[in-house]
Amino acid sequence: MTAQLPDSRIAATNENWWRDAVIYQIYIRSFADGDGDGIGDLAGIRSKLPYLLDLGVDAVWITPWYPSPMADGGYDVADYRDIEKLFGDLDQADAFIAEAHAHGIRVILDVVPNHTSDAHAWFVAARDKGIGAPERDLYWFRPAKADGSPPTNWPSMFGGPGWKQLPEDVAALAEAGEGQHADYYLHLFAPEQPDLNWANEDVHDDLEATLRFWFDKGVDGFRIDVAHGMVKDPALPDLPVGDESHLLNADTSHDHPFWDQPGVHDIYRRWRKIADSYEDSQQGKRIFVAEAWVREPERLAHYVRPDELHTTFNFAFLSCAWNADAFRDVIDEQVETLEVVGAPVTWVVSNHDVIRHRTRYGRAIGEERKGAGTVATDLELGLTRARAMVLFMLALPGSAYIYQGEELGLPEVEDLPEDVLADPTWLRTNHEHRGRDGCRVPIPWTTGGTALGFGPADSTPWLPQPASFGELSVEAQSKDPGSTLRLYKDALAIRRQRPELGDGPMDWLVNDENDVLEFSRSDEFVCVVNFGSTTATLPPHRTVLLASAEITGDVLPANSSAWLEI
Ligand code: GLC
Repeated sequence: MTAQLPDSRIAATNENWWRDAVIYQIYIRSFADGDGDGIGDLAGIRSKLPYLLDLGVDAVWITPWYPSPMADGGYDVADYRDIEKLFGDLDQADAFIAEAHAHGIRVILDVVPNHTSDAHAWFVAARDKGIGAPERDLYWFRPAKADGSPPTNWPSMFGGPGWKQLPEDVAALAEAGEGQHADYYLHLFAPEQPDLNWANEDVHDDLEATLRFWFDKGVDGFRIDVAHGMVKDPALPDLPVGDESHLLNADTSHDHPFWDQPGVHDIYRRWRKIADSYEDSQQGKRIFVAEAWVREPERLAHYVRPDELHTTFNFAFLSCAWNADAFRDVIDEQVETLEVVGAPVTWVVSNHDVIRHRTRYGRAIGEERKGAGTVATDLELGLTRARAMVLFMLALPGSAYIYQGEELGLPEVEDLPEDVLADPTWLRTNHEHRGRDGCRVPIPWTTGGTALGFGPADSTPWLPQPASFGELSVEAQSKDPGSTLRLYKDALAIRRQRPELGDGPMDWLVNDENDVLEFSRSDEFVCVVNFGSTTATLPPHRTVLLASAEITGDVLPANSSAWLEI
């Protein structure tokens, strides 16, 4: 049954909300801790709904909140239709969905269909029933090669091999003394995240039941984790030696044994029918957004054909260097390619998997994603550019994502003590790569006090916040008219008021200045971004609606942007 939305401020008539929504990503463990155990939770999110309303976002995407042993921050799901105890329970989830809707905020969940946790009932049965059990067909159990090595050379994204033998099997075979090698199971991520076998119809049925379960509770959509990875080439070919194409952001323009296999599209056609079957409800369309690290725009566009998913993250934009020509190329490529299939583009620069963009933009081109402490970083420059970016991104046609804390201009925390690092990357690369914890540090809500307001007094956040977070807190920035938080709020407010922003056409305008992009969204609205390191002159205009840096006369400072009424 669809949840009742008594006071809903969601306009059912706005069925195309997803084409230009601004969606705020909540990394639940690090957003707000309601019960004081140091880990963010549903009570925390509920208490911050007024903040999100005031910020002016249209929807939230919440990273996995399901029961999980947390081997990968919740992306190891033990039960898709329940809530992790650390985060709350199903009643709280129901209450949260209703309250979010009452605040006019839509709710997008994260579904993780490529793999389960090894604590999921299916994998527990597959393990316990032993070698050759039919339960193993839900996963990728395959025989070892003759020499006992894994079936293929496929690696895990977190380092090390992508296959593992169960110790129980190894022990059983040793006891039998027949010298056989145990089967391996595939895990493209951590060993605690066994890959599901989408050739098995039970997998389809169960994940589809999961979609319905949450749609029935009123959620507005799903972000699909590793959406390009669910189907594997059953012939299990090795990757060419030295091939880097296993990396998540690899070039997938060629046939790849586990990324972007054509079979994934059959899954999404089925899922789209499910989402569309909810269309007559009072709240407008239910939607999907794909996490598909597919570089070639034509292939990415396949995911958002009219009978498949609605949107997909634009990782080309996220990965783009701070350079006018490079951004223009990416924008043209994405807009033109997605237009062919009628899908809107999404814009995103940060998430829970990448170095925060304030830090990336403070580095030299080509060094943005290098490890902590290995490259020079100018955080002031990074902030100046991050502020320019938000006006740029929110002026582009389509929908946009904001990752929690970017509205505060938080940098990556690159000096977390080694003993608190929780990302599986750290262990699996033998402490070579620190992983993604630096962008997951709990949000500072207050300038002082324990946990900077992330949790109640006396609580200790699961990752320590640096002292510098105090002055970046929501409390500190709310009082400061020149703050980054204020810039985000003002930009979102203007975006809501001006019908030409969001979905719709854009036109590049000629600008003779070096490293400057200028485009219009209507006869009255122009966005100018100066990527250069010297000032630029603003084009003729009536008013500066908003600027990322102080404007004097017609001078647009280096690394800044402005919205103009012309
Ligand atoms: C996605 C998630 C990432 C997770 C991985 C495995 O890339 O964004 O956080 O580790 O999938 O589920």
